[in-house]
Amino acid sequence: MVVVSNRLPVDHEVGPDGTQRWRTSPGGLVTALEPVMRAADGAWIGWTGVADKEFEPFENDGISIVPVPLSGEEVEYYYEGFSNDTLWPLYHDVIAPPSFHREWWDSYLVVNRRFAEAAARAAAFGAVVWVHDYQLQLVPRMLRELRPDLVIGFFNHIPFPPYGIYSQLPWRKQILDGLLGADVVGFQRSADAGNFTRAVRRLFGYTTRGAVVEVPGDGGEVRRVVARNFPVSIDVDSFVQLAKRPDIRARAREIREGLGNPETVMLGVDRLDYTKGIAHRLKAFGELLAQHRLSVEDVTLVQVASPSRERVGPYMALRDEIELQVGRLNGDQSTISHTAISYLHQAYPREEMVAFYLAADVMLVTALRDGMNLVAKEYVACRVDNDGVLVLSEFAGSSDELKQALLINPHDIEGLKDAIVTAIEMPPAERRRRMRALRKKVQENTVSDWSASFLDTLTGRATVPAGIP
Ligand code: G6P
Repeated sequence: MVVVSNRLPVDHEVGPDGTQRWRTSPGGLVTALEPVMRAADGAWIGWTGVADKEFEPFENDGISIVPVPLSGEEVEYYYEGFSNDTLWPLYHDVIAPPSFHREWWDSYLVVNRRFAEAAARAAAFGAVVWVHDYQLQLVPRMLRELRPDLVIGFFNHIPFPPYGIYSQLPWRKQILDGLLGADVVGFQRSADAGNFTRAVRRLFGYTTRGAVVEVPGDGGEVRRVVARNFPVSIDVDSFVQLAKRPDIRARAREIREGLGNPETVMLGVDRLDYTKGIAHRLKAFGELLAQHRLSVEDVTLVQVASPSRERVGPYMALRDEIELQVGRLNGDQSTISHTAISYLHQAYPREEMVAFYLAADVMLVTALRDGMNLVAKEYVACRVDNDGVLVLSEFAGSSDELKQALLINPHDIEGLKDAIVTAIEMPPAERRRRMRALRKKVQENTVSDWSASFLDTLTGRATVPAGIP
């Protein structure tokens, strides 16, 4: 088995004395695939995150790691440009305007080919290759041409947009054709799979039957490509274990004390990204304080905004906008002893994140568009006490499963404000009832269930459900 993703599951670290080492990054994908990869003598192909540097393949925890090099210009054009300033905003409902540049597309082509060639070299005859996410949508087709013997899966971790938006992409046909090189194309939500199959029908006129797209080959034969949803999840057990650890529970109490032991701690945890609706959340909170529906004496908001894609224009603008908003809100609403928002522009280890989740009475997930939003699932998994309230945007994929959350439309600021007040005032019995139902749901579909169901479909061990996705 070969996994192909833009980022490798290891981070490159250089110590103060110049020594280099690799550290496994704590993502759910690695945890889910590690056992499968070890058993199948697997290889993981991806970029190290370092520009202009070649690394030899190496072994990490029983998985062979195959680094794909990117030049400084490719990082700028393929990664920051086409992936994160064209596709990312386009696939997230054009919340920010996508930029279309032909030289970025050229670089996307070149880099996708490099990944496909690396996968073709690493895969044994008849192997399963699983390609991940929007940075590598051309890889399935390129790989099929290089290696027709392979079984190829693709999973899109972000939304797939409706046709009216997708069709703006000058390279819309090439990308669809790239994806159709796979045997299974997986999405987070059934709506994403539906958008994809509609685009295939509109742009190519291919027949789709339920979740199956019939792709005509050159010799008149038909290839059947499955396109359906496989909602991704988290490594639930590892979060539960952390949430039970006495030192992490003590740390959660310490966090609350550090905040002055307010009655209610609200929490937001996001990459600093314009899709996350951070500004909407802050606006709602600021208005509740200004209108005296909430008081800083009683309620504090902790906002973790981890740095992300900091050289991409809209991300730089967003940071300025959010920090201005936080500064104004704190200036207007805080008192000498109570700060309205604790804003943390930092990334934290998983242990500390779990302590934050345990310290939070109310979790705010107000994404304007999000493939899944694993933070919502992490919060639920950590609430082993069956307490805490999740306020969740209906525009996050996780809202398909987490229906016992307080579901909100983040654009509706009055509705969001009401939901925040409802969350804060919710009686304990209702909090427990909802959290129990949410926890049951999260436990039913862990990241291992997700990868097993994708791989079973890919290898023909699972039947494809009928019906329109
Ligand atoms: C999203 C994407 C991932 C990406 C991650 C972090 O979750 O779906 O593919 O790796 O964001 O973004 P970055 O650009 O730092 O890899």
